[in-house]
Amino acid sequence: MPLNPARMPLRIRSAVENDLPALANLDAEAFPMDPYPPVVLRQHFDVCRDHFLVLDDGHTLYGYLIATPPDAGRSWILSLGVTRDVWGHGWGRRLMAESLRQLRSEHTHEVRLTVHPDNDRAVSLYEHLGFAQEGDVHKDYFGLGKHRILMALKLPDSAAPARGTPPSVPSATVNSVRTDGS
Ligand SMILES: CC(C)(COP(=O)(O)OP(=O)(O)OC[C@H]1O[C@@H](n2cnc3c(N)ncnc32)[C@H](O)[C@@H]1OP(=O)(O)O)[C@@H](O)C(=O)NCCC(=O)NCCS
Repeated sequence: MPLNPARMPLRIRSAVENDLPALANLDAEAFPMDPYPPVVLRQHFDVCRDHFLVLDDGHTLYGYLIATPPDAGRSWILSLGVTRDVWGHGWGRRLMAESLRQLRSEHTHEVRLTVHPDNDRAVSLYEHLGFAQEGDVHKDYFGLGKHRILMALKLPDSAAPARGTPPSVPSATVNSVRTDGS
């Protein structure tokens, strides 16, 4: 579906229950080889709630991010996906930035994630946000042949801003699609 930047402002918000059917489609588009079964998506929604973000224009979902609520100061980004028609416009980075802003305000000190070793686009995104690879490729991490890279980001306490802090989205709403990919 073509996106008209002038007429379809996208915003980042928390997911609601009614989003689940569209989220299943979005997840299947982002991860065609390994989509979440509906039960897993539902459970992630129940467990993660406010940390489950979506990108929408009021009619259609264009992206989502699932982060775990912090546990002893640690959180995991479980999933991130953006529809292909809006790749390269900064929405993946904005979803990450909004989640990191939220986690930082909750005094999360470390955020972890896994990524496929061949997913250069995602690895590049995470590195730009300050994530660093931990160790080598973890063979068979998600089962036979499903190798993953582990990445982690240390977050400074929100009371003590520090250099290198990931960019934040000023509010949960971003009003226009930028076409410069920044
Ligand atoms: C990974 C994904 C979320 C990125 O979304 P996106 O909206 O295209 O990302 P952005 O436009 O915000 O780009 C973010 C960064 O990605 C990197 N990037 C963008 N285009 C790239 C390209 N063509 N090649 C390599 N890296 C690229 C850059 O580092 C960019 O940062 P910059 O804008 O500061 O230069 C999206 O490609 C996607 O949904 N992929 C399928 C699902 C997936 O692989 N999810 C990640 C699983 S761990």
